[in-house]
Formats: sequence, C-alpha cells, structure tokens
Amino acid sequence: MRKNIVAGNWKMNTTVPEGVQLAKEVCEAVCAAQDLKCDVIVGVPFTHLCAVKGAICEKMGLAAENCADHEKGAYTGEVSAAMVASTGADYVILGHSERRGYYNESIEMLKTKVDLALAAGLKVIFCCGESLDERKAGTHFDVIKNEIAGSLFHLDAEAMGRIVIAYEPIWAIGTGETATADQAQEIHKFIRGILAEKYGAQVADDTTILYGGSCKPSNARELFAMPDIDGGLIGGASLKAADFMGIVTAF
Ligand code: PGA
Repeated sequence: MRKNIVAGNWKMNTTVPEGVQLAKEVCEAVCAAQDLKCDVIVGVPFTHLCAVKGAICEKMGLAAENCADHEKGAYTGEVSAAMVASTGADYVILGHSERRGYYNESIEMLKTKVDLALAAGLKVIFCCGESLDERKAGTHFDVIKNEIAGSLFHLDAEAMGRIVIAYEPIWAIGTGETATADQAQEIHKFIRGILAEKYGAQVADDTTILYGGSCKPSNARELFAMPDIDGGLIGGASLKAADFMGIVTAF
C-alpha cells in the first residue's frame, strides 16, 4: 500500500533559528493532530538539517533539498548524499525544476544523484514537470516520461520502492496558478501508467506520487481526493505552520 505524504520544500528561506522555530511549530501540530492520514516531511536547507532533526520528533520525516553528484572529495562547497544521511535526514529532494533550470542539472546528472542518494540509504523525492511552452506545444507527456525514464528506469523494482515522485508543472510553481485537479490527475495517472509498463502493476500501485505547484489549504482537498494524487510537495505554503497544517489535514 502506498503512503500519503505531505512534504514541505522550504527552498532558500529561513535562518537556522527561524527554521528551528518553524519545524517545532509543525511538529507540535503534527503530534497534537488526531488520526493524520499522511506522513509529514520537512525539506530544509543543508545548514538546517542537524538543528531541525533535533527539533522534530520521530513522527516527522526530514529531507534535504539537494545533494552532490559525486561521492566525496575535492568538490568545494558541495554536500554529499552520505553527509546528508549522517544528519539523520530520511529523504533528499532531487530534480526540482529550479535545480534543473538555474543550475543546469541534466537527466544524466540526476541519474547519478539518485544512485548516490540510494546508496547512502536515503529515499528520494524525485521531481518532474513541464514548462508552460511544453504544455502549450502538447509535449508535456513526453517531457515527463523522458525525465522519469532517463533518471530512474535503470533502477530495479526494490530501488524504485524508495522513490517518491513529485509532479510539479513549472508554470504552477510559486505562481499562484495551480493545475486543476483534473489536469494533475491526468498526469499522475500517466506517470503510474509508465511505472506499470516498466515495473508492473504492483510497483506502480505502491509508488507515492505527489503534486506540487501552488498547493495551499484551499485547493489541497480537491487535489488529494484524486485517485492517483497521494499528497503534495509544498513550497510557499510550507513556510507558515498554520498553512502547512491546513494542507496536511486536507486528507
Ligand atoms: P510552491 O512550490 O508551492 O511555492 O508553488 C512548490 C515547489 O516548488 O516544490
């Protein structure tokens, strides 16, 4: 059975004390909530991992927002998957469109990062999604299939079990413009279909597929009600505990 997950992606926001405070508020709310229907994860900057790990309880998961594409060595300023794992983080977010777009992360590089993350014992939240131009040109299905197949389809079924996929249409990220629940469901169903083709129905059924892109308390319920949407990857609305919890409790 696949899990429902709501994961925050803080991006480059908050100082360490601010982040610790936010994580504590979220954790208190998670612990106080009855009957949560989803796992709750916070994705935080590298600098925050250790402190946030100390501020949350075992009811919550912790994610880094990136890791290096090398195992270790002379890569000044980089942070390896093993370093991330050693903070107590459970997950790493890979392939976010901001990393693909601003830092030229290629499908091939992400394949390497996925392998290094899994080898370090991390689970991966793997992001994919099309730009507005790609959607207008009708190539969005191909774009998503290429991103997933190119960086993940070398994995065996056991390794695929440690991947969460996040569909994040670039035109919906931080823009206030959400994909409609039907638009998101169409893509999530497509993703589950390509997983089924490659790995069989069981793996496809067991894979958690999140939606991301201007998800907020007011639209989360409608999105999460869709049969193939198993939760969200939340940017802006994860920076206020009340907004984030409004999404967590939408299940
Ligand atoms: P947003 O970001 O919720 O602010 O649109 C989502 C994401 O980029 O993960």
